[in-house]
Amino acid sequence: MNPMIFLDNAATTFPKPESVYTFMDAFYRRAGVNPGRSGYDMCMEAGQLLDDTRRLLTRFFNGTDPNRLCFTYNATDALNLIIFGILTEGDHAVTTTLEHNSVLRPLYHLSMFRGVDVDYVPFDGRGFVDPAEIRKRIRPQTRLVIVNHASNVIGTIQPIREIGRICRERGIVFAVDASQTAGQVPIDVQADFVDVLAFTGHKSLLGPTGIGGLYVRDGVTIRQTRAGGTGVRSADRLHLEEYPYRLEYGTPNILGAAGLNAGVTWILDKGISAVAGHERDLAAQLREGLREIEGVAMYCQDDPAGHLSVLSFNINGMEAADTGTILDVDYQIACRTGLHCAPLVHDQLGTARIKGAVRFGIGPFNTEADIQTALRGIADIAEMARHRRIGKPVSSVPV
Ligand code: ALA
Repeated sequence: MNPMIFLDNAATTFPKPESVYTFMDAFYRRAGVNPGRSGYDMCMEAGQLLDDTRRLLTRFFNGTDPNRLCFTYNATDALNLIIFGILTEGDHAVTTTLEHNSVLRPLYHLSMFRGVDVDYVPFDGRGFVDPAEIRKRIRPQTRLVIVNHASNVIGTIQPIREIGRICRERGIVFAVDASQTAGQVPIDVQADFVDVLAFTGHKSLLGPTGIGGLYVRDGVTIRQTRAGGTGVRSADRLHLEEYPYRLEYGTPNILGAAGLNAGVTWILDKGISAVAGHERDLAAQLREGLREIEGVAMYCQDDPAGHLSVLSFNINGMEAADTGTILDVDYQIACRTGLHCAPLVHDQLGTARIKGAVRFGIGPFNTEADIQTALRGIADIAEMARHRRIGKPVSSVPV
């Protein structure tokens, strides 16, 4: 039994359901070979697993064609394929200040080196992006609107259906980064007008690290920015144009696919609302408890509606990193501190200048006891900081 209380589930869920570990182990021992390259039984079984997992995920996101579900290493990889495969010189893109560096850095690269112009729509005081603000930024050159479905810092879930409708009416590609929401929030790519969905396997889909993917709606074009082996039509000089090969390169991560398959199967067995509901109940306890502690400032947590079970806070007088270290060493609590790879969120919150915030992310295996221990820890640290027994002086915590 791991003695840590793991509250870093927004970075990756830990532990995974037992069935994920057992299925990965059994599958890899039985059929851990290169799929689609030969006709022997193990190879066929590995290929079948990939196809089954494509179908499972396509149904999970209510897509229409499993071949348009492509596997990648992670969400960053999927987002790079999308951003570099859609935008070109002279294009304009609209995104938000809620984005993770997996979106921001490819966009910065294109603006600095390839003549792409980008607008960043800020979130409001509650942590939500107004679709009308996105609409205002659209120009004749706008080719892509790309939005984080939910912030990995403040946990606010964005109104993707409204944004998607605006994009569909104008014929602009709408891409959604579902890194934090896939497995937590039901996603329906048809009803939500999503043209391209990027996801990772290791967060709320409960698979391992090293696998993610994207679903591309029929009719949306993503240029190929890589080329390589596919196991199919090896004599062709160019990479295959048809999906899923179009956006898959080299030996796939079948061990990752096995874990992802088992993770999604576990969620479907339990029911996505039961799993997410448990986490949100714990998040509500955490939020209420933190609200009671003098000197704690939470960010965009006034209205719990439309939130994932992710929240960030600071303790007055403490740097986030120091709070994280004390939680780790004295309370065996794992969390993430700093800027969370989402620097514009912290710029807007005013927390960048105090080196970010402390983030708790709740997972399916957290308990009320975990939350109570975390609250006791934060209350102790806040009290010590109030009496200046710990902590370096930091400028006061923005609220
Ligand atoms: N994107 C991950 C996080 O939010 C790693 O922590």
